[in-house]
Amino acid sequence: MSVTVDSYRTYRNLPPLAGIATFAEAAKPGLSVEACVARLKRFHYAFVRLHEIFTARITAEPIYELKTAFSHFAYLCAEHVQALRDRIAEMREPPLGLDEVPHEGLRIFFDEILAAPTTEELLLGICLAIPELDRAIERYQADTNPLTDAPSCRVLRFARLELADMIDFGQKAVAALIDEAALARTPGWPQFLMQCLASAGSIDGLAAISDPPSERVFSAKPYQYDRVPKRDERWQDPWNQAVNAEAFLYDETMPAKPKTLMMLFKRLREIDVPEMMASIIQETKGKPWGYYRDMSRQLWDEARHAMMGEVGFVSLGVDWTKARITLNWSHRLNTECTPIERHAVLYFIEQGLMTKTGKRYEWEVGQKSNVPLIATIQDFDWADEVLHAQLGREWYIPQIGEWKEALAYGDRCWTRILSNWQAVKEQGLTRHENWWPDIYRQACKTWGIDPDPTVLGYATTYEGARADLKNVCASA
Ligand SMILES: [Fe+2]
Ligand SMILES: [Fe+2]
Repeated sequence: MSVTVDSYRTYRNLPPLAGIATFAEAAKPGLSVEACVARLKRFHYAFVRLHEIFTARITAEPIYELKTAFSHFAYLCAEHVQALRDRIAEMREPPLGLDEVPHEGLRIFFDEILAAPTTEELLLGICLAIPELDRAIERYQADTNPLTDAPSCRVLRFARLELADMIDFGQKAVAALIDEAALARTPGWPQFLMQCLASAGSIDGLAAISDPPSERVFSAKPYQYDRVPKRDERWQDPWNQAVNAEAFLYDETMPAKPKTLMMLFKRLREIDVPEMMASIIQETKGKPWGYYRDMSRQLWDEARHAMMGEVGFVSLGVDWTKARITLNWSHRLNTECTPIERHAVLYFIEQGLMTKTGKRYEWEVGQKSNVPLIATIQDFDWADEVLHAQLGREWYIPQIGEWKEALAYGDRCWTRILSNWQAVKEQGLTRHENWWPDIYRQACKTWGIDPDPTVLGYATTYEGARADLKNVCASA
């Protein structure tokens, strides 16, 4: 009896082909290496552009939940770009040509989303692009030979897992934020995006290809990155520098438990780091992809640190919006420094965290506080910062020279930014009201203790402190 792909049996019916496919699936010819590379390059282009869009829109996006989600998704896209680059380089294709735009229609498609004038339009564009990319990858998975092309299949399987998360978030974000009125504001734009995509034969170029649209909508004027950070309405009084968290944290006479609140404040305040790092990534062109991947990883870690602060406050029943979380740092670095100066300042701060009084100290306070979540938060925060110091060594120092020189440069850039405590007060931007007693009282209620009068009376401000606000122990 002759054997067919359907009747063939493995030894004692063990799963066939190392678990990747059936014989029927693996016996179809599938795609050539050349055809695979052509499609993978298009997926690569899509992830590069999505990474760019998410990163560019972090700083000026006011809604915190979107700012943190964009930080997350930018990092995921950066990882998939890296994986695709590596895979394409394995396919008899030097990684050359990865910077080529596969079709002008695709370029316009992503340019339009990048330049979307409002959060709503940006979300609509993203929520159109990501499912299209996912469908294109699904077609690839159906067409390619799962055995001959197993390494690509593996990379794409991971990509689709995370695309599914992004699609889910996007659908929920659209449902929460976009109503009929928002949709009516830009009639025809989603259709225009579809036209751009159709001209490119879709993301993968399988459909008929034609000339791209001759006119643009939002990207008719080239996109300008907005480096001024913005926050939503929960972030009141953003110039307030009334409570010097570091001075409290390092005051040996203060107890550990309230110090956890200052650490949570410092963590949440770290949302200024993604706002600032996005500007470095956006305004530094021509680096190897590893630079963008690593910087995006660090950016995402800093967004996580902010969310750790948020979770910490919520778990203690504290309304964090009663704290005043300044955007002074990201605002000033983004508007007063060049990208390399910003990177220098970041590196300088993070080096300060590696000392005994840095992240180790915060972790020890967390341990002593008897608030288990804080100990976990500081443990991982510390580990992340060790990684960031390594990333700085890899990407920042070689741009300046030696370690010492690079550190001194960071210190100089920093010193140039003088305290604006008085200036923002005189300009009427803030009255530096002391928000500490409110936050402390809320936590005491949860802890079931009476506020300690000395702790309650804490009123050391950042007046005269360096503008980074972090001269005792930086919080990046
Ligand atoms: Fe960091
Ligand atoms: Fe951090």
